[in-house]
Amino acid sequence: MPTDTEQSLDEIDVGDPKNWGDGAPHEIFKRLRSECPVHWSEINDYPDEAGFWSVVTADDVHTVSRDWRTFSSERGGCMALTHAIPLELMTSMFIAMDPPKHDRLKALFQRGFTPKRIAMHEDEIRAIVVKVLDRLEGRETADVIDDIAQPVVSRVISSFMGIPEEDDKVWATLVNTTLGVGDEELAPGGLEKVLAEDFPEIFRRAQAMIDDRRENPTDDLTSVLVHAEIDGEMLADHEIVMGFFLLVAAGNDSTKATFTSGMKALLDHPDQMRELVEDPSLIPGAIEECLRMFPAFANFRRTATKDTEVHGHPIAEGDKVLMWYVSSNRDETRYEDPDVFDIHRNPEHQAFGAGGRHFCLGTALARLELKVLFEETLKRYPNMKPNGEAKPASTAFLNQFKTLPVRLG
Ligand code: HEM
Repeated sequence: MPTDTEQSLDEIDVGDPKNWGDGAPHEIFKRLRSECPVHWSEINDYPDEAGFWSVVTADDVHTVSRDWRTFSSERGGCMALTHAIPLELMTSMFIAMDPPKHDRLKALFQRGFTPKRIAMHEDEIRAIVVKVLDRLEGRETADVIDDIAQPVVSRVISSFMGIPEEDDKVWATLVNTTLGVGDEELAPGGLEKVLAEDFPEIFRRAQAMIDDRRENPTDDLTSVLVHAEIDGEMLADHEIVMGFFLLVAAGNDSTKATFTSGMKALLDHPDQMRELVEDPSLIPGAIEECLRMFPAFANFRRTATKDTEVHGHPIAEGDKVLMWYVSSNRDETRYEDPDVFDIHRNPEHQAFGAGGRHFCLGTALARLELKVLFEETLKRYPNMKPNGEAKPASTAFLNQFKTLPVRLG
């Protein structure tokens, strides 16, 4: 991990891919929390993009996250790069809308995502996990992502969306490339290819499903979007496609990332893995520690709608502000020994956002998927061991591994 003690604070570009080659640069964030909790970075790799303020403490992330009037998700989107996708497409997803439209769209889904409604899917999710693990029978080695996490999370969100199983892989690839820009393995060809090939492909595939649901309404979430009326108006096709993509992307990516990082931590701490094997009732608490230590999204972005200040630091109207959950979740004013993985900590954290309008829609689903994934995987493979290098993604957005090779044992 680069320890950047030589660099002056002014020189640090927090999002520079060079800082993320070995995963999140926790040494840099530690330094910012103590010396410069509101810090300015230029984006050197994309000269057309304005730089950004980094907000790195739990209190400050909370402040920004809750004040949507001052810190807009819509004005420049919710990603550090304003041009990661055309702004009109970005702001067709409710994650990148402000109230009132945000609230009306989110409300279409909220009832189906409460812990009680999600709990009704437990048997279905367990059957998916068991089926995926059954495919490993007879094998000695596997990759936790390709062979367990990805196929499970893809099938779960696909079943919510009404995507047929044979299309799971292609959607997973489209999500990995569009979100993974910056990492050549996740997104070969980078932003150019994503814009020229992947988004047209997403539109083509989603449009076919939309046309079908118009003719044949079903009870899946794609149908909910197709038939939604917001203030008496149906959504435009590009809004339906992007609403669909938001759910597919959110469902495909982050739960996989958290499960894999959690498994890696358990493989690195066999004593704690043993405890979970022997007492699965500890799993829900362990999941909260995985979410704290390894938030699947390193950051989300806001844009200041007026001149304001955070932590006594002036921020001008139009400035980008990045909330770094990878940092706030290790804020030493909230956590003792924040870099220590401890399944008994059962912490509060900001992996799902820090409250406010955009708090993650999928928390109950993610927690249930993680619980079933850990329960079934540890039951089936209580002696799993590492089997080679786990490679982290080198992007400042996706805080995840690309591979986690294991000996099933
Ligand atoms: C461990 C898994 C997950 C993590 C760490 C995670 C994290 C997050 C975070 C940090 C946000 C806040 C974005 C912001 O403030 O701008 C968010 C929003 C969102 N998440 Fe999740 N998420 C996870 C799983 C899921 C799943 C399974 C779904 C399934 C549908 C989902 C759907 C969404 C949606 C739709 C939003 C936008 C909410 C809004 O703008 O109001 N997430 N998520």
